[in-house]
Amino acid sequence: MRLNPAMEMFWYLVCALAAPLCSARDDFFGSTRFPNEVPEYDLLHAIGVPFSNPKMQYFDEGLDGFPAYGLKPGSDIKSPYRLFMPEKLYAEFSLTATVRPANKDGGFLFSVVNPLETVVQLGVQLIPSGPGLTNISLLYTDANIYALSQTIASFVVPSFARKWSRFALRVTSDNVTLFLNCHEFDTVTVRRNPSELVFDSASTLYVGQAGPLIRGAFHGAFQELKLYGSPSQAEVQCINNFEEMGKGSGSDEIDIDNFLVDQEDGDLEGSGRFESIPPFPPPPPGMDVSLLQFDSSICKLE
Ligand SMILES: *[C@@H]1O[C@H](CO)[C@@H](O)[C@H](O)[C@H]1NC(C)=O
Ligand SMILES: *[C@@H]1O[C@H](CO)[C@@H](O)[C@H](O)[C@H]1NC(C)=O
Repeated sequence: MRLNPAMEMFWYLVCALAAPLCSARDDFFGSTRFPNEVPEYDLLHAIGVPFSNPKMQYFDEGLDGFPAYGLKPGSDIKSPYRLFMPEKLYAEFSLTATVRPANKDGGFLFSVVNPLETVVQLGVQLIPSGPGLTNISLLYTDANIYALSQTIASFVVPSFARKWSRFALRVTSDNVTLFLNCHEFDTVTVRRNPSELVFDSASTLYVGQAGPLIRGAFHGAFQELKLYGSPSQAEVQCINNFEEMGKGSGSDEIDIDNFLVDQEDGDLEGSGRFESIPPFPPPPPGMDVSLLQFDSSICKLE
């Protein structure tokens, strides 16, 4: 059964609000309920709502009006990594991000740091790299072997300070490929050692920083930050994003901006914009249509 986009939207919202009932994903402890499903970890779940540090955290408006989380240096988002990440990393995986840095300074989008807080075992860092350029670096370190964080792949791209940008890293056994704003940007050949990184069990997941000892707090907004247990999710980042699903239907496209904005009254200025909306997962779901339809049918079971 194929639902039209408006119905899909409706059922998505129903499912999102009734998550315990309808969610097809179990982010905690990474289990997935359906064997064919790609394991998906939403790292933004480490940012709890209500905010733990409201002075350093804010709601923002993302691409297509989706809500997003803003972090300022000092937001100190951290969690035992095991709550939001797999015990060990997949031999091949994808990382997807939709972010808007508030400035050119870059910083860590996220990191999994060893218990001594000295080594980034897995992380993505933005580094200013000359005028108008940003270096997107993937850090991947076996903390049993290295005392310093290892950057295994980096890509120099036009700076996207103050601009919403999507990017994804596809990590296979041989290569790391960057997709930037829905286009394949570049590939570097990387042999990772070990191929399946085992995190120290007392590691910490940080969002927007890499802990108190390693510098590089990020100031900016996040709409999406996910780890997938499959390399193929990187290239479908833009297709999977929900707003893309209505595409092709032309004028029937759903105006999700109005959909969300209609629920609040007035104040469209500033960072408090979404404060009146009840806790709602801000990133668009990385669902594909078939999954969505599956969800819809669950939701409609009598
Ligand atoms: C990006 O930054 C990393 C970490 O500083 C560095 O090792 C790497 O050489 C840089 N990459 C490029 C292409 O400049
Ligand atoms: C890695 O990249 C090389 C060169 O682009 C390509 O020939 C090879 O098939 C890639 N390997 C994988 C596993 O994607």
